[in-house]
Amino acid sequence: MLITILPGDGVGPEVCREAVRLLRALNSFYNCEFEIKERPIGGAAIRATGSPLPESTLQACLNSDAVLLGAVGAPEFDHLSREQRPEAGLLRLRSALGGFANLRPAVSYKAIADCSPLRRSRVEGADVLIVRELLGGLYFAEPRGFAPGGESAYNTMRYSVEEIERIAHVAFEQARARRKKVTSVDKANVLETSQLWRRTVTEVAQSYPDVTLEHMYVDACAMHLISHPARFDVVLTENLFGDILSDEAAVITGSMGMLASATIGGVINLYEPVHGSAPDIAGKGIANPLGAITSVAMLLRHSAGMHHEAADLEMAIENVLNAGHRTPDIAGEGRGAAASTREMGELVEHAFVAMLDRRFAYHAV
Ligand code: NAD
Ligand code: IPM
Ligand code: MN
Repeated sequence: MLITILPGDGVGPEVCREAVRLLRALNSFYNCEFEIKERPIGGAAIRATGSPLPESTLQACLNSDAVLLGAVGAPEFDHLSREQRPEAGLLRLRSALGGFANLRPAVSYKAIADCSPLRRSRVEGADVLIVRELLGGLYFAEPRGFAPGGESAYNTMRYSVEEIERIAHVAFEQARARRKKVTSVDKANVLETSQLWRRTVTEVAQSYPDVTLEHMYVDACAMHLISHPARFDVVLTENLFGDILSDEAAVITGSMGMLASATIGGVINLYEPVHGSAPDIAGKGIANPLGAITSVAMLLRHSAGMHHEAADLEMAIENVLNAGHRTPDIAGEGRGAAASTREMGELVEHAFVAMLDRRFAYHAV
């Protein structure tokens, strides 16, 4: 399999390096199953080529079996117009790859439940999957822009029945493989797009009688998500609501650095941690790589069909946390020296290799 790695900016390259470690570890078991190519995106690409998504990067992504991205964005480019910013490169890439379903799991690991500012009793057992629509709504719909003179600006929230149906099917399919509950989140008390969303999701639900559907307003969801996270299974929502609710869901896990994502449904799947380039900690070697590493587990599951290995990798992460290893963001107070980004990557690699060894030994007898 050919995997294109887009490290990007800030902590992006730091966490990607550790994520790639796991793919390389697999290679020693499967005879070079993964071929890895790196390309620039975001601010790094602007510096190198003037564009946040150079044509050669886009072509490399389109010619690969999966894409793994670190993060884009840097304060030095914040003054640029929307189309020139690093983030524009990511949005262009998402639309070119065509994945409309962004899966963002937020799981509370027992070992680090105390890292959440929420009480352990609230977060324990929480396992939420946010299914975020990724190619519609305010992010992409036209018209958009500044009015002449720049004294007003506008964006368009637009959804078609077809766009809502396809993302709803993904959410119900995911729920079927989980605890069989979908919470569809909208603002149907105010927005027409949300009324269409609610009506369409209700219709799609007819095909999934085994899955329970509930509707919730986004403001109430923001509250319930952190007061009773364990009550949620699959949260289905539109692009901007999903962006906001997924960062909020990171609080359940203890850190922004824990969250992974997979974008599916297009021509090429895209895997990326949910966090950004974290300029406040970039370059220090202390970023948490577990979101990026969990994104590799999602790649193994959704692109490589390696379900056992994906579960092994998730278990390796849990084992490392159970053994007490922490990057600073999840270290809590009064603990000893925290692990660096690299040390955390190496720890997970060792735990993963141990599990793969066991799997291979088992198959050999
Ligand atoms: P951010 O996610 O980069 O950081 C928010 C907070 O979380 C910061 O305190 C940061 O230190 C912490 N954090 C993030 N990742 C971490 C990790 N791996 N380990 C430990 N702590 C971590 O969000 P921001 O500061 O609002 O945005 C910074 C830049 O990143 C902006 O340019 C933004 O546009 C961009 N961004 C990019 C992506 C992406 O590439 N997918 C996502 C979000 C934001
Ligand atoms: C995310 C990010 C992106 C988004 C930005 C960087 C374009 O915040 O992946 O959550 O808004 O989708
Ligand atoms: Mn975001």
